[in-house]
Amino acid sequence: MESPKTTNTTLITWVKEIAELTQAASVYWCDGTQAEYDRLCQELVVAGTFIKLNPALRPGCFLARSDVRDVARVEDRTFICSEKQEDAGPTNNWDEPAAMRQSLKKLFAGCMTGRTLYVIPFSMGPLGSDIAQIGVQLTDSPYVVVSMRIMARIGSRVLDVLGNKPFIKCLHSIGYPLKDGRQDVAWPCDPENRYIVHFPEAREIISYGSGYGGNALLGKKCVALRIASVMARDEGWMAEHMMIVGVEDPQGNKTYVTGAFPSACGKTNLAMLIPPQGFEGWKVWTVGDDIAWIKPGADGRLYAINPEAGFFGVAPGTSMDSNPAAMRTMVKNTIFTNVALTDDGDVWWEGMTNDLPTHLIDWKGKDWTPASPTPAAHPNARFTAPASQCPSIDPEWENPQGVPISAFLFGGRLSTTFPLVYQSRSWAHGVYMGATLGSEATAAADNQAAIRRDPMAMLPFCGYNMGDYWKHWLSMEQRVTNPPKIFRVNWFRKTSEGKWLWPGFGQNMRVLQWVVKRVNGAVQGHDTVFGTVPHYDDISWNGMAYDKATFEQLMSIDIDNSRREFEDQVKLFVEFGDKLPAELEAQRQAMLAGVNG
Ligand code: GTP
Ligand code: SPV
Ligand code: MN
Repeated sequence: MESPKTTNTTLITWVKEIAELTQAASVYWCDGTQAEYDRLCQELVVAGTFIKLNPALRPGCFLARSDVRDVARVEDRTFICSEKQEDAGPTNNWDEPAAMRQSLKKLFAGCMTGRTLYVIPFSMGPLGSDIAQIGVQLTDSPYVVVSMRIMARIGSRVLDVLGNKPFIKCLHSIGYPLKDGRQDVAWPCDPENRYIVHFPEAREIISYGSGYGGNALLGKKCVALRIASVMARDEGWMAEHMMIVGVEDPQGNKTYVTGAFPSACGKTNLAMLIPPQGFEGWKVWTVGDDIAWIKPGADGRLYAINPEAGFFGVAPGTSMDSNPAAMRTMVKNTIFTNVALTDDGDVWWEGMTNDLPTHLIDWKGKDWTPASPTPAAHPNARFTAPASQCPSIDPEWENPQGVPISAFLFGGRLSTTFPLVYQSRSWAHGVYMGATLGSEATAAADNQAAIRRDPMAMLPFCGYNMGDYWKHWLSMEQRVTNPPKIFRVNWFRKTSEGKWLWPGFGQNMRVLQWVVKRVNGAVQGHDTVFGTVPHYDDISWNGMAYDKATFEQLMSIDIDNSRREFEDQVKLFVEFGDKLPAELEAQRQAMLAGVNG
């Protein structure tokens, strides 16, 4: 065993214990240097996990193709093992922690045979800031090591800051021991036995069997949302599935806004928005695209930081039209997973270009032509790129104090019923709007379409009882004198023929501008059953032809649909029994009274 680079006895003892349990062939302490990263990438190329992309087209970039069974987060295998089941709540899988530890111990026995155990000290949040949290991930996946170096701050400098203090234990194995002469494969994993397990009281994570995304890069959803949400509840702050942007007007005033949208519902797009024609002098700055940690500041406002250092963004649909800043971020030093490979050694995915390439190697490694019946890239194919490469990255993005937040947006994918934008009447009304957030599983423009409720876009990420989480949200109003204003947005409304009513993407700037005006008291709002809305003339239509009739359709409120929606919300609320804050049910009743009155 390589000698440890720390005097933290808890860490040293734990690493020894895991090395013995897993029977790892060797232990390697990651220093986080470029040389180490380059060496591991080269080893991944030799192992067949990485394909080096054409350095003339994508310098420093690699393509990985996962096992076809290991392509996304596995929600049904994700557990919150709190001491008491009621602390996990009705929306999380639970098992008794001691029993779960027993089962996991069996899986981990010998699971790293023939492999290196990598020790990755990492910091979520700028290194050394008091808002940051330090974790240590033990993993047998070099793909995870190099990905973590992009997504978090890792290495020896983290151990220096950690000293002898406690840290979040993150144990991970792909679950593919090289025992009894078994040969390695390009993407080793154990899809039959996956477990993504959180022990909230112990602040500990154990993940087995998957090498993909949020299942395996444990700093992201496991630490920065599930464990951090529990810490935030205990300590009076918030850990949210939100992007963060700074909206700068032509006079140079900057207003920071965060937005919670369910997975694959447009956070990265909004985080990197480029103002359209008609918004000369406006600029949108990116602070984060997925996670926000939000704390009360001394001045009575809420401040947010992005705990991550990179983007793990959805590739399909990303193009120079839909998100040029994302495209420019991934020109170099990027790891692509499950996208297609072009004949000249570059990447491609559905929606990247209007013209289809005549020949590709698809995400499964097979020949692909436009006649192929299956997509060239997996729909959840992702790019892993350093945030520092983003052309719109905010100069304040690593400020350990965070940025002051003026507005929270909540938005789902809803083809009917919900207007483009509306503002809550109060903090509690806004919490209700977030709690009842939903998103359509299908794009059917049918008012009966099943809505998956995804409260605050946190359904798969809240580390405790969602009822207590809502209570915590309600209580945040008392912790600040000037809380953010709360809005619901919906970019996804459709005509009865199924066409988008709103062009979205860069044009969402018009909505952001109204939000900024509202929080600065620069525009009057108008009351409706849902909340406060803009009239046609309150939105700037500079540089865009959008007629009043279409706008009215986009903003229209169908009373029968709305009543059905408010009635349907009770199905979510009753699941929580007496954990449901009475205030939220009172808000729902008020909405019903509004449509009935
Ligand atoms: P996670 O990384 O999974 O948390 O998701 P995300 O919220 O960052 O998702 P992302 O921004 O990658 O969402 C991409 C999907 O949203 C693509 O299908 C886009 O086409 C679609 N999308 C984003 N913005 C808009 C918009 O304004 N209008 C429409 N119609 N679609 C949009
Ligand atoms: C999401 O699913 O919301 C993601 C991707 O951001 S993952 O990191 O895999 O959770
Ligand atoms: Mn996400």
